[in-house]
Formats: sequence, C-alpha cells, structure tokens
Amino acid sequence: MNIRLAPSILAADFAALGSAIAAAERGGADLIHVDVMDGQFVPNITIGPPVVRSLHRVATVPLDVHLMIAEPDRYVEAFVNAGAGMLSVHVEVLPHLKRTLGVIKRLGVKAGAVLNPDTPVGALADVTREVDFVLVMTVNPGFGGQTFLASAESKIREARRLLDEAGNAAPVEVDGGIDLQTVRQVVSAGAEILVAGSAVFGAADPEAAARELKAVAVAHAAAIGGSAAPRRPVPGPR
Ligand code: DX5
Ligand code: ZN
Repeated sequence: MNIRLAPSILAADFAALGSAIAAAERGGADLIHVDVMDGQFVPNITIGPPVVRSLHRVATVPLDVHLMIAEPDRYVEAFVNAGAGMLSVHVEVLPHLKRTLGVIKRLGVKAGAVLNPDTPVGALADVTREVDFVLVMTVNPGFGGQTFLASAESKIREARRLLDEAGNAAPVEVDGGIDLQTVRQVVSAGAEILVAGSAVFGAADPEAAARELKAVAVAHAAAIGGSAAPRRPVPGPR
C-alpha cells in the first residue's frame, strides 16, 4: 500500500493558508486537499479557482481538489488551469461521468470519482477502468469536523474490490472524520489516500499532528502486510 496524507485546508485559518500548507508539508503531507463548495450541491460555500491558483504558487506537493459543486463540467478546466493536480467530481451530479473523467484526464490531471455516503459503489460500474482514484466520503459532504460514518468501511472495501476486479490499481481515498481513532479502520479496509481536516488543522500543532497521523497510518499498513496489489506511481506534480 502507498499511504498518502492529504490535509484538508477547510479546517485551517483562511487568512493564513500559506503557512498552514507549509506546516502540513513539514509534517509529511503528500497532497493538499482543497474543498470547493458552491452552496448548491452542499449547503456551504468555500473557494474558487483564484484561491486555488494562489495555493498552487506556495504548495510544493500536488493539490487534490474536491469539487462539491452542482455543475462540475462548467468548471473543470478552470480548476486545472489554476493548478489542480488531482480533481475529483461527485457521481451524484454527473449524467455523463465517463465523459467528465475523460475530459479531466485529457487536461493532464488525475481524475477522481466521489461517492456520497448514500451512493452505492455500483455507481462506479462503468468507470472502473477510467478512474485514477475513487473518493469514498466517510461523512456527508459540506462541513469539516463531523463524525466518521462507520458504514463507510464496507464501501471502502467494496470500492477496492471493484477496482481490483477491473485490474485498476487506482487508490481509494477517504474524506471525513479521519483521525487517530479512525485511521486504522480505513487503512485496513483498503484506503490509501487519507484526507484529514480537523485532525490536522484543529490541533494545536498541525505539523506534529500531520506527522503523527501519517506515521500511525503507515505503521498500520505495514502491520497488516500492505496486502493490496502493487500500485502505480503516485500522481506527480503537474
Ligand atoms: C467535507 C470535506 C472534507 C473535510 C474533512 O465536506 O470534503 O474534506 O474538510 O474534514 P474533517 O477531517 O474535519 O472531517
Ligand atoms: Zn473533501
């Protein structure tokens, strides 16, 4: 398994995102997770391409941009141009999921499909060969600081199995309520990209919190034998 930590800046001080990113990177962040919300698909509103462009100037690791917006097709190109290295879209709003993923890939970034807690893994059936990663939401999207939904564990396993059956070594990512208590559970289920907002930026020392969370995840993956199939190289910088 190739464990990667993706701290979510949603829980950081938005007036000091540059230093938040630097602290996360010193703590071993492999990616920076950026939550884009439009007030339609989810009740919250966050940021758009101009902020992503600024984050891209200061981040030394790839930006993992999670679009929680009603019409992602309209904005995919803008977020790629702003510097997204990975771009994920929710299957719930996409009638032509395969086409959207194809557009993202052709723009040269890693394309991810996201499942809400209530969306069955079967929604991925037609894109199991295309996806570069699958994001299984472990809370309902919209806000940081929510409690991990235990029901997500079986979905992580199911998503992993579906990808394996398709011969696709793409990683499963998890997002929501990931902390020192829940991280082993999701790694055991097959998650390799771990998003964490509050557990990193809600801590008194985000750098130390990131380092500890990643160390626990990496140690657990090693302890369970890292059984999963060999992985492709990680999504690189743009
Ligand atoms: C929720 C977002 C998450 C959020 C996770 O809609 O997609 O990325 O930042 O926050 P925590 O880790 O606090 O649950
Ligand atoms: Zn997210």
